[in-house]
Amino acid sequence: MIKIKVPATSANIGCGFDSLGCALTLYATFTFKNSQQMNISGCPKEYQNENNLVLYSYKKVFEKLNQPVIPVSIHIDSQIPLSRGLGSSASCIIGGIWGANTLLNYPLSKEECLDIATEIEGHPDNVAPALYGNLCASFQSDKVYCTQFQASKKIKMLALIPDFEISTKKAREVLPKQIKYQDAVFNLSRVASLCKAFETNDTEMIHAALQDKLHEPYRKKLIDEYDKIKEICKEETAFFISGSGSTLICIYQDSKEKLIQEISRLKNKWQCLDLRIEPKGVQEEKYD
Ligand code: HSE
Repeated sequence: MIKIKVPATSANIGCGFDSLGCALTLYATFTFKNSQQMNISGCPKEYQNENNLVLYSYKKVFEKLNQPVIPVSIHIDSQIPLSRGLGSSASCIIGGIWGANTLLNYPLSKEECLDIATEIEGHPDNVAPALYGNLCASFQSDKVYCTQFQASKKIKMLALIPDFEISTKKAREVLPKQIKYQDAVFNLSRVASLCKAFETNDTEMIHAALQDKLHEPYRKKLIDEYDKIKEICKEETAFFISGSGSTLICIYQDSKEKLIQEISRLKNKWQCLDLRIEPKGVQEEKYD
């Protein structure tokens, strides 16, 4: 039996659209047991079929290696909410790929796993930190290149998870086909500084650099009460849409209690999770 533990992730982090992402201390666990035939449990009935992302990603490894698929029974136990911008799909992809790679005794390097994961997900910003942990900056070229930053352990993130979903497909449809030259410069001039500021916990720099003109202005209208929450969080270090939403993240300074109290008075039900940046990425345990 093999257990694969994968962290949740938050992609984009303001200015790093489709490039930056960090792992978070919220997890999904995937258990792989030998079986006569493939089956999957621990997810809603509609996902218990051949198209399941864990199953698909598991099989993809065998396909890449030109090997017959070893049948297993997979059980999912996930704390990561679906369609909330916290990397639930990435956790399934990395869970499936790393499960297969572990079962086969690691024929693939993490770099090769990242290539396969990005091919499945379409962009690397969630799958990279799910695999490596910490803060990752990634881009696609002839392969996927990923640089890891050692984010300060002092960074405190309050994830505000609403009771409504947003699909990444819908959140990508609202993005414009073209952007202004100055908006591109606005974002790219901030990304490198933001990564460094995460390492040093330079809160003034995080506040100034963690801004975005490429996706948040278009997506905020999909998130009811975005403006109200931004106002509540305005004295804190930073505020951003996690991935493509619907979760919002506040990097807070000292205490979260007042924020939670004010957010509890809003119309929607916002679950507040106090998270930290997860340093390790995917972890496996093998049992006989
Ligand atoms: N970078 C992606 C997006 C993350 O914002 O659409 C969501 O999967």
